[in-house]
Amino acid sequence: MKPSDRIFVALDLTDEEEARTLARRLTGHVGGFKLGLEFFSANGPDAVRAIVDTGLKVFLDLKFHDIPNTVAGAVRAATATGVSILNVHASGGLDMMRAAAEAAAVGAERHGVAKPIVAAVTVLTSMDTSDLDMVGQRGPADEQVARLAQLTKDAGLDGVVCSPAESAAVRDACGEDFVRIVPGIRPSWASTDDQKRITTPRQALDAGATYLVIGRPITQADDPVEAAFRIAGEMAE
Ligand code: C5P
Repeated sequence: MKPSDRIFVALDLTDEEEARTLARRLTGHVGGFKLGLEFFSANGPDAVRAIVDTGLKVFLDLKFHDIPNTVAGAVRAATATGVSILNVHASGGLDMMRAAAEAAAVGAERHGVAKPIVAAVTVLTSMDTSDLDMVGQRGPADEQVARLAQLTKDAGLDGVVCSPAESAAVRDACGEDFVRIVPGIRPSWASTDDQKRITTPRQALDAGATYLVIGRPITQADDPVEAAFRIAGEMAE
């Protein structure tokens, strides 16, 4: 995979036209786009399809978390949009994740699309060990991440969304083929914005990231294409 193929640009926008324009500009310079709850809640599945139709991969970041039957239905419906990656919360449990894995395969077959990568969120990076304690989850946070990553693998899912600090441990525990999708990336020349624990693109790769989710350093740059090109260049060094 060439470095630029590993970059998923977070289109954290509610304006569909703006997102589509940005997607068109960046096509050929990045691997794909991440569309999250903000974009989906504002624009719905047809807008997701419109981004898929630009020809690049889409990671639909809706983090499903419900009973197995409901998550399976949501995964089948999301798969119909033709997205390449979607995700669930690992804390939904083994049966829920198994149902998600099966639903992605069934949905892909039914709708004549490639089966998406189904990843799981282990512990939100906004939560530390004391937050886990408050919701009755066993810490420390890094051990809970490892536990949930292993459960994700056992359920037959394809990988996890994790912080750069966790990706090497996940790779070591779950193997090279188990996908690590990593946000919180900042090139040295970009503003940190509200991100606190940041990693450069090169460091994230060295730490075992498979895909890098990068938003504002590209979307808010004066020239997004130049920013993406520069980041891919740094990853190749
Ligand atoms: O603009 P920026 O590069 O900070 O965007 C990062 C994207 O990754 C955002 O969509 C953000 O919600 C998401 N994300 C994150 N940290 C996590 C999980 C997701 O920054 N732990």
